[in-house]
Amino acid sequence: MKKLIVGNFKMNTVPSEFKAYAMSLATKTQNSKNDIVVCPPFTHLAVAREFLGGSRVEVGAQNISEEESGAFTGEISAKMIKDAGANYVIIGHSERRSKFKETDKLINKKIKTALASGLKVILCVGESLQTRQNKQTCAFVRKQIDDDLKGIYENELESVIVAYEPIWAIGTGKVATKSDIAKMVEIIRKEIALQYSEKAGNSIKVLYGGSININNYAKIISNPALDGALIGGACLDVDNFAVICRENY
Ligand code: 13P
Repeated sequence: MKKLIVGNFKMNTVPSEFKAYAMSLATKTQNSKNDIVVCPPFTHLAVAREFLGGSRVEVGAQNISEEESGAFTGEISAKMIKDAGANYVIIGHSERRSKFKETDKLINKKIKTALASGLKVILCVGESLQTRQNKQTCAFVRKQIDDDLKGIYENELESVIVAYEPIWAIGTGKVATKSDIAKMVEIIRKEIALQYSEKAGNSIKVLYGGSININNYAKIISNPALDGALIGGACLDVDNFAVICRENY
């Protein structure tokens, strides 16, 4: 089954290192049947366009401003990343939510701005360990979906991908179980079906992210409930990431 494999570099590498990475990934994924996206830092986007252009690998950014343009010193707009060659943007990553205090309201505005600029959105949702221990996971994730997608039209959901990333699984080596993942994907689809339609719930793409590595990726990503994966640490090694991208799921 064809999957969507997304690599999130977070704040790692410098543009000059990324050139070699991009050239290598382009070559190594030539025959991959999966859809592949890499999301490097903003400073790497020009390099990405130059060395991934014409390859099977598409490019995304890790964030955008909620504003379209204007007096927002230091911010990067949706139009800027689109013009720099990005087709995707990650919005609502738990690191942005917790370390940069991004609220669901802000995330909702960012999603609208991204969609208006023709970007595809990878919306991250997921619960903390405490929420999980309090058995609030389902309600918490459903509310994130509701609040983050408020006012977004059903036809726009074609450009929205939901990534379920439990916070306790990010960079910790702890992975959600197959049945946990299947359950959460179902919760996400049901919530979309409730807010929009059965068809929307069935067709939205759902990814899993959190401690996927070269040893566990095949088992996790082949889960038929999933449309693909969002990979952090393990995407930084181009050989390993290319193996994950080439796999026949
Ligand atoms: P790790 O794969 O490093 O756990 O990170 C997951 C993630 O946050 C991807 O966005």
